[in-house]
Amino acid sequence: MKRLMSSLRRSAAAAPLLLLALSACAAASLASPADIEHGRYLVLLGHCNNCHTVSYTERAGNVPESDWLLGNPIGFRTAAGTAFASNLRMTAAAYGEAQWVTYATAVKTRPPMPWWSLHATRPDDLRAMYRYIRDLGVAGRPAPDFVPPDREPPRPFLNFRIEK
Ligand code: HEC
Repeated sequence: MKRLMSSLRRSAAAAPLLLLALSACAAASLASPADIEHGRYLVLLGHCNNCHTVSYTERAGNVPESDWLLGNPIGFRTAAGTAFASNLRMTAAAYGEAQWVTYATAVKTRPPMPWWSLHATRPDDLRAMYRYIRDLGVAGRPAPDFVPPDREPPRPFLNFRIEK
């Protein structure tokens, strides 16, 4: 009996987690094909792949969709240091849909990420973007860490510094 009670207590403690997991699944499955397609369209128009997908610009967008938004190990060097476009599939997976909207409308990053454009994106569009990114699935690894301006970044990198 004692053992039964303690296992009940354990499962009671796990219940909120289970609910959370179930509601995350429900949220994902509630995304309609139209939402996902709209999110894809916004990702294309927002040019997220140009920076967040390896070789996307060099190959004029000819990169398999399964490799989209996995982050970029080629840094962008500016006067502020060298920043690496993050793995957005990991970022999206770390947030619920409502949290993503809050995050995307408040986040300020280093250059050259156009964070102000995210702030200007309507919540329903941010939700569609989220649904599309979640539909791509979580994959890949985190992008490398930021390199401060006084340190040499790993090569190759893109030089976004203004040279006079
Ligand atoms: C010109 C290149 C560029 C474009 C275009 C771009 N990003 Fe970024 N993004 C970056 C870089 C570089 C970082 C990392 C900045 C830093 O280290 O502070 C970043 C960071 C972010 C972050 C914060 C880091 C994280 O994952 O939590 C989010 C969110 C983000 N980008 C979303 C987007 C979305 C969505 C789009 C398309 C609408 C987009 N970005 C387009 C370069 C870009």
